[in-house]
Amino acid sequence: MKFEKEILCIGAGYVGGPTMAMIAYKCPQYRVNVVDILPEKIDQWNSDDLPIYEPGLDEIIKKARGRNLFFDTDIEAGIKAADIIFVSVNTPTKTYGVGAGMAADLQYWEKTARQILDCAESSKIIVEKSTLPVKTAQAMERILNSGKNGVQFEVLSNPEFLAEGTAIADLEDPDRVLIGSQQTESGLRARDTLVNIYANWVAADRIVTSNIWSSELSKLVANAFLAQRISSINAISSLCEKTEADVSEVARVVGMDTRIGPKFLNASVGFGGSCFKKDILNLVYLCRHYGLEQEADYWEGVVSINEHQKERFVLNMLTAMFNTLAGKKVCLFGFAFKANTGDTRETPALTIAGRLVAENAQVVISDPKALDNARQDTKELKGDIQFIEDPYSAAQGCHAVAIMTEWELYRTLDYKKIFDSMQQPAFIFDGRNIVDHDKLFKLGFNVFPIGKPKKVHF
Ligand code: NAD
Ligand code: UGA
Repeated sequence: MKFEKEILCIGAGYVGGPTMAMIAYKCPQYRVNVVDILPEKIDQWNSDDLPIYEPGLDEIIKKARGRNLFFDTDIEAGIKAADIIFVSVNTPTKTYGVGAGMAADLQYWEKTARQILDCAESSKIIVEKSTLPVKTAQAMERILNSGKNGVQFEVLSNPEFLAEGTAIADLEDPDRVLIGSQQTESGLRARDTLVNIYANWVAADRIVTSNIWSSELSKLVANAFLAQRISSINAISSLCEKTEADVSEVARVVGMDTRIGPKFLNASVGFGGSCFKKDILNLVYLCRHYGLEQEADYWEGVVSINEHQKERFVLNMLTAMFNTLAGKKVCLFGFAFKANTGDTRETPALTIAGRLVAENAQVVISDPKALDNARQDTKELKGDIQFIEDPYSAAQGCHAVAIMTEWELYRTLDYKKIFDSMQQPAFIFDGRNIVDHDKLFKLGFNVFPIGKPKKVHF
């Protein structure tokens, strides 16, 4: 069969896999090829055991894979065949040299750009899918257009706004799709080509076009605003704990103002995930680069409050449990950075586990999807750590349970059974405010929510 377009995606990760699966699923007229430098990851994408857990992903992969969706390791051949190349490689925080700990590490992106330049035999549209600092497209265009005669590259910015755990729903019905382009004739032509791909399933008024720099910056700013809401409510949660106010009641009232809105106001043990921290630090670095010190300090505060919230959680545990955790067994309910994903990147649970073993506590980690990642992540932690999927067995004999992830499963457990199997006095630290605190207190637990009065029996 002859396809209308050849689409390539470089980087088969949390973004590349699901976004390309959605394009292929919605647009059988295009051939979509996803490549990665990791052959084992490509093997997993081609198997029944996908490399990531995402509700609804299996179904659309099953429908499109082998029809017009392909996962492959031959990056060179993929580049040669493609009309449009999405680049969705990782852009972590730089760990070395200038900007270490703040700036985005663009080495993977640049390697990809050079590989495209080396292999391409015809002109192509290159789409920045990864989250990148503002002005990256300019550098990319310089690299790409430094080469062969007649081969032209038009770089577009098309940042991804999906959230893990709801990726498929977000891709199928996005709040918006953003496409930034140069305002030149060829830039606008390339932009229209990409608009037409999304228009196969996204309503026209949800497809927003902008200049390329606004597009790059909007992605960083969207994440900074989301994270800022969480840090704002978390900063209020500590004040609630001191004043007997209830953070859920405060959030409800504040969120009822239609100018503010109710979402992203759940106080928690802290936000995690691969992007919020790195994207804010990237924004902070950009501000400092342009001499905007106060603006940089403002955004850096969002990250500092998040670190403080995790530390506060551990100190609350320590104080509540008579100032010593040594030899005590603490069970973590959840290790994923949020519910409905197995992803544990930047998960607050890792920080908490690390601080608990530093206090010589024994840690039992339970999670329905993230135990493999948890095993990897905690390898460097020196201490007594066990991994038990079943929450009842995990909590058995423990002095405390700490809820780290808002998995639905943890709302509905038989907490009487759990209480009866634990050491007494039994403690529960609800890092997500998802269980019925009154009910648990009545069962005998000493209950420590976030931003609400504690309930203790002594
Ligand atoms: P990821 O680490 O899951 O996937 C990136 C993939 O790129 C990896 O499989 C890696 O092997 C591959 N890769 C790296 N260099 C390569 C190269 N030279 N050639 C081929 N493959 C290469 O990362 P991710 O979570 O998918 O994030 C990718 C980008 O999307 C980041 O910039 C991130 O900020 C952004 N983003 C992520 C999310 C999310 O929810 N995870 C959401 C929106 C945007
Ligand atoms: C976030 C954004 O929501 C996406 O729009 C963006 O595309 C993505 O980052 C990215 O660039 O990677 P994600 O990190 O997958 O998505 O998940 P979120 O739902 O944003 O949750 C992030 C963290 O905040 C989680 O740890 C979550 O538990 C926490 N959170 C969220 C709270 O503590 N309170 C809330 O009210 C909401």
